[in-house]
Amino acid sequence: MPAGDDVTTCIFFENVYYSYGEHVDWALQGVNFAVHRGEWVTMIGGNGSGKSTIALLMKGLLIPTNGKVYIFDKETCNPEHLGEIRQKVGLVFQNPDQQIVCLTVQDDVSFGLENLGLPPAEIERRVNEIMRKLDLLAVKEQDPHFLSPGQKQKLALAGIAVMEPEIVIFDEASSMLDPQGAQVIYNMMAELHQQGMTIVHITHDLDEIEIGGRIVLLKEGRIHFDGSWEEIMGNTKLLEEAGLCLPFAARIRDALCKEGFDLAERAATLEEMAKQICKYVSGK
Ligand SMILES: Nc1ncnc2c1ncn2[C@@H]1O[C@H](COP(=O)(O)OP(=O)(O)OP(=O)(O)O)[C@@H](O)[C@H]1O
Ligand SMILES: [Mg+2]
Repeated sequence: MPAGDDVTTCIFFENVYYSYGEHVDWALQGVNFAVHRGEWVTMIGGNGSGKSTIALLMKGLLIPTNGKVYIFDKETCNPEHLGEIRQKVGLVFQNPDQQIVCLTVQDDVSFGLENLGLPPAEIERRVNEIMRKLDLLAVKEQDPHFLSPGQKQKLALAGIAVMEPEIVIFDEASSMLDPQGAQVIYNMMAELHQQGMTIVHITHDLDEIEIGGRIVLLKEGRIHFDGSWEEIMGNTKLLEEAGLCLPFAARIRDALCKEGFDLAERAATLEEMAKQICKYVSGK
């Protein structure tokens, strides 16, 4: 890896441009960033800002029109590296239907592992463990096509997590789920991160982002901001300019301030917001 030849770097974008065709605008323009091993990065941006294009470039499913993408020290434009890159990078899409390949849930979870040539006992252990964690054991004999969208998304995640990739990208992976289903996906994300995996969480819902983490904001195919959660919450104009809706707690605070409440601090969560309001009301 040239400029980012730090051994701790696992994703490196160097002046990346991507176009889906000659007569369309650039989907990405001059994108530069590095992600370190074990990091948790949240990518946010409005519709069409280039988030999914970045995800596809990371997995080697798209190759930059100009510039370079490296996964660990391998450039994605080299076809010899693609097999290894695609094994190291797991991508959970918004639409789980795209990821179903087998006729039972259990076969679908084990599909990728069988191609790795692991011993059958190891495959069985990993498959059972992941199905237990994602509440899929009760439906293991069912045809995945007839699962609910939430169950399908858990199945898609199971099929990826069971492969133990080094980087997992979640592209709006919980946007079709109810709050409980979204929480299961989020818990799994946290668990994979704890196990040492690098997490790239793509979303436009600021209420579901990890508080306190690194945020990369995309606008019109360019990186508009790359910094801490605290920094961007202190400069919410950037979020509004990118067409994003502020987190619920921030919107409540702003509405209360408009009504004359003097709430100086910006609360990260609803619980913190409630504490601030109680403090204000009781005058302490
Ligand atoms: N298959 C495609 N063919 C042509 N243009 C495309 C294609 N996929 C995406 N684009 C264009 O590339 C740009 C970036 O799209 P992308 O899907 O990466 O955005 P996004 O941030 O993921 O949006 P969303 O929030 O809607 O998922 C958009 O202008 C989009 O219209
Ligand atoms: Mg997208």
